[in-house]
Amino acid sequence: MPVVAFANPKGGAGKTTSALLLTTELAVKGAAVTVIDADPERWISQWGKLPGKPENVTIISDVTEDTVIDAIEAAERDSQFVIVDLEGTASLMVSNAIGMADLVIIPIQGSSMDARGGAKTLRLLRNQEKMTRRKIAYSVVLTRTSAAVTSRALRDVANQLRDGGVELFSTPIVDRAAYRDLFAFGGTLEGLNPAQVSNVDKAIQNAREFTGEVISKLKAAGAARKVA
Ligand SMILES: Nc1ncnc2c1ncn2[C@@H]1O[C@H](COP(=O)(O)OP(=O)(O)OP(=O)(O)O)[C@@H](O)[C@H]1O
Ligand SMILES: [Mg+2]
Repeated sequence: MPVVAFANPKGGAGKTTSALLLTTELAVKGAAVTVIDADPERWISQWGKLPGKPENVTIISDVTEDTVIDAIEAAERDSQFVIVDLEGTASLMVSNAIGMADLVIIPIQGSSMDARGGAKTLRLLRNQEKMTRRKIAYSVVLTRTSAAVTSRALRDVANQLRDGGVELFSTPIVDRAAYRDLFAFGGTLEGLNPAQVSNVDKAIQNAREFTGEVISKLKAAGAARKVA
């Protein structure tokens, strides 16, 4: 079943947050999801210990560069979606996971002009394409964008990327307290208390749009037969 890897050697780009949003929204739709938590901070594993984790989410925490390929292969057999949250460095583990992915999502903070981490991920991806002799689909997602306005700076980043021929999600992941609270409270966005967390409805809508786009991209990438 399709493997989606979140990669950007730049720390704090939004890999773990975006990976958990995708995981929880797919799970809410009823899909069996396995997360390979290869982030040394283990945020998703910690989230999984809080109450409210959907039963159809399985988290594999103890992977190394030697075991990641086998872990992904085993997860592919057992679940409808495999999501890999990678560390914020360019390591052999990252290359191995990219080599196994049906779609590599490269989060880049929309507020910063620093896309160097993204460029590095693309180079890793090209090398893996050569080594595995297959195309690897990828797309950049702008993260932590402002909810209030689509700023000029953000449009400029998006246009620069598009002009450079870089694949880009139309849905950016907005900066939302709900996305931070998910890691503190556990469970899903749908399970957050709107009285305690602001704009939960908008957060859900944004996460669903992102998830919908991931599924379209997987289908376009030819992983259609794998997408339930
Ligand atoms: N869309 C968002 N809304 C609110 N906060 C966010 C969002 N995306 C990321 N953050 C915050 O930014 C910080 C870094 O995000 P995250 O941990 O997802 O990045 P990362 O790429 O996984 O980092 P690392 O390379 O260290 O693994 C965290 O404190 C997280 O809560
Ligand atoms: Mg992370």
